[in-house]
Amino acid sequence: MGYKVAVVGATGAVGAEMLNILAERRFPADEVVALASRSSLGREVSFGDDRTLTVQTLEDFDFEGTDIALFSPGGAISKVHAPRAAAAGCVVIDNTSHFRMEPDVPLVVPEVNPGAIAGFRERNIIANPNCSTIQMVMALKPLHELAIVKRVVVATYQSVSGAGREAMDELFDQTKGIYETKLPEPKQFPKQIAFNVIPQIDVFMEDGSTREEWKMAVETKKILDPAIEVSATCVRVPVFVGHALAVNVEFEHEIDVDDAREALQEFEGVLLLDDPANGEYVTPIECVGEFAVLVSRLRRDTTVPSGMSMWVVADNLRKGAALNAVQIAELLVQEGHL
Ligand SMILES: NC(=O)c1ccc[n+]([C@@H]2O[C@H](COP(=O)([O-])OP(=O)(O)OC[C@H]3O[C@@H](n4cnc5c(N)ncnc54)[C@H](OP(=O)(O)O)[C@@H]3O)[C@@H](O)[C@H]2O)c1
Repeated sequence: MGYKVAVVGATGAVGAEMLNILAERRFPADEVVALASRSSLGREVSFGDDRTLTVQTLEDFDFEGTDIALFSPGGAISKVHAPRAAAAGCVVIDNTSHFRMEPDVPLVVPEVNPGAIAGFRERNIIANPNCSTIQMVMALKPLHELAIVKRVVVATYQSVSGAGREAMDELFDQTKGIYETKLPEPKQFPKQIAFNVIPQIDVFMEDGSTREEWKMAVETKKILDPAIEVSATCVRVPVFVGHALAVNVEFEHEIDVDDAREALQEFEGVLLLDDPANGEYVTPIECVGEFAVLVSRLRRDTTVPSGMSMWVVADNLRKGAALNAVQIAELLVQEGHL
């Protein structure tokens, strides 16, 4: 017998990938329900290659009898409806940042901290981490086991799909408009995104960092190790899908590059594609549609006693969002929680 699964935000960039991935990985679902706002009522969305689902409204949906809900409707909506679903006995896997740092809500990357899932019954909610955090902790985990990560300095190159469907349209429209000599009008982003890069993702905080940068620091501590210090600069770039990170890591112990390569190669969900002499390294466009986190340009940083730099690329809509959420659902099934 399969499960009843609801996808909340099914018309969005992440929700569409959730439906794709549930179908691709043949999640054991007897019924899948697509939910979105009132304005999408009755719309058809694709589920797998040959099925469509008719969108229902989240507000009117009764979660009684639904086993799992994958939420990505934005933080303010999750804040209201995730606890409502959870109270009806449905396990919520939430993609927004709303519940991530609450102590009684597990924040899970299945390859990195699967054990954290155990506490989910407190609230019936499990949080999916930030997209850039997920791909960074995937690359850090095998290295942390080898030599203990002390400090990370990261600069991100984040694609516009990380800000949703309308943000992707804005990059397209601005790019096309500039060739037609139209002046770009920023709406989804604080400045022009076409032919530009923007060192602001989410709002600024009192200390001058952005909320996205803060999320990378605090979520890494919660998932991997509270002792790890992270200094992040998060940048939006005019790429449609695929986030890249330039990561510099300082370790507690000596680390050998060959051992680091081996550890990354052996780690489930990470693929090392790194042969610069033969032009082998990965760019965001090459990661689209992939499940794996791709690591390239691994090299020693000789400016500190034990340091290493690397380039980490992943499909932000997949491992950075929808795939990780579906993997959490798979973990719940495997461990007999449902
Ligand atoms: N994109 C990423 O890489 C990524 C990664 C991790 C986490 N997230 C998080 O996931 C969330 C959604 O991201 P997205 O990129 O998919 O955004 P999006 O493309 O803008 O989609 C938003 C979705 O939320 C739905 N929605 C909006 N208001 C609603 C309401 N009142 N009731 C029910 N559904 C409502 C929309 O439905 P309508 O079409 O009916 O408006 C749409 O399906 C955000 O919180 C984001 O931070 C995104």
